Amino acid sequence: MNHIDFSKAIRYIGCDDHSIDLFENQYKVPKGISYNSYLILDEKVAIMDTVDRRASQDWLEKLRQGLDGRKPDYLVVHHLEPDHAYHIQLAAELYPEMTIVASAKAVAMMPQFFTMDFTGRVMAVQEGDKLSLGQHELTFVMAPMVHWPEVMVSYESSEKVLFSADGFGKFGALDIDDNWDDEARRYYFNIVGKYGGPVQTLLKKAAGLDIRTICPLHGPVLTGDLSHYIGKYQTWSSYQPEEDGVVIAYASIHGNTEKAAHKLAEILRQKGAEQVRLFDLSRSDKSEVVENAFRYSKLVLAASSYDGGVFPPMEHLLTTLVSKMYQNRRVALVENGSWGPTAGRVMKSYVDKLKKIDLCPTMVTIWSTLKDKDLSALEQLAEELLA
Ligand SMILES: Cc1cc2nc3c(=O)[nH]c(=O)nc-3n(C[C@H](O)[C@H](O)[C@H](O)COP(=O)(O)O)c2cc1C
Ligand SMILES: [Fe+2]
Ligand SMILES: [Fe+2]
Repeated sequence: MNHIDFSKAIRYIGCDDHSIDLFENQYKVPKGISYNSYLILDEKVAIMDTVDRRASQDWLEKLRQGLDGRKPDYLVVHHLEPDHAYHIQLAAELYPEMTIVASAKAVAMMPQFFTMDFTGRVMAVQEGDKLSLGQHELTFVMAPMVHWPEVMVSYESSEKVLFSADGFGKFGALDIDDNWDDEARRYYFNIVGKYGGPVQTLLKKAAGLDIRTICPLHGPVLTGDLSHYIGKYQTWSSYQPEEDGVVIAYASIHGNTEKAAHKLAEILRQKGAEQVRLFDLSRSDKSEVVENAFRYSKLVLAASSYDGGVFPPMEHLLTTLVSKMYQNRRVALVENGSWGPTAGRVMKSYVDKLKKIDLCPTMVTIWSTLKDKDLSALEQLAEELLA
């Protein structure tokens, strides 16, 4: 069985996008991304979300084939972001009898995105409302801020399917092989990461449902033992580290801070640290650094001073960590300066904005190049990190 054949009545009509370079104009997706859309064929026919404008032709063709001459009664909109909702107006024009089903908040936001007058065409639903399609019945569950405020999910009780919107999504098209955990984690922390609280609320609601299949808006349909995926979401949304380990993120102009970062990694390994991951912030994909910062329990920030501040690649990371509510981790600082080091103070000012951070008392200051006399400070920092 593949993701497309998990049900006779629920058909996959989503699209792979391999030509996109940056998802949300920011995240590298070397293996593409999928925009998922589904059809439920019963006495009534429901389209479950549309796709990004980049996949128009593909989706319209799959919709036509899937409908096989029937007309849709409903278009259920779980999320109004354009990577899913772009075709609402087009579908409404194609099928004048079709009703759009969405949260009240989504209905209120629709005029911002479309020119059509949807009066008489929409059904605003609330928590617990049900929609019968015949044997299939949808129950709507509000999931505000599981990416955007208007988001809802729906539960189909006859086949026990959760349509989970962006939740449980991942980067990567469906026709490639990759590791679900890695690309789902990078997707989660960069896209939904700020909203751990709302995700926890949704997980609590979902715990009361008997779910056999999860149909997200990106990535594969999840079937079989769902506890692995739900367990990851529990860990991620509660800001718990997934693994013990140290991420060393460094921003170095002339390579000396980089040398210190590598030396610290060596010392940590000598002291028995099993997982030490180094990232050169000038070259690494920032979304991958963010993903790994959240994955592991400890983070070292090492940076050159720059114009009375910190070298910009580090500031970029710090801004993102603050925005994504990075928390509940041990953090250590290494700064470098040639006439008046300022990187440490600036890095600390960002770290001070984060909650539940255990900041190592030692901050290592390197004056231009790493000297033998600096090694004891790095040793001390390593001890504090591993304590
Ligand atoms: C544009 C520029 C601005 C800098 N500003 C400062 C500064 O404000 N304070 C300071 O102590 N060093 C400053 N430096 C020196 C760097 O911090 C220096 O590269 C660092 O001490 C050596 O580490 P690195 O080899 O990892 O870059 C600056 C360097 C450059 C190129
Ligand atoms: Fe979204
Ligand atoms: Fe999305």
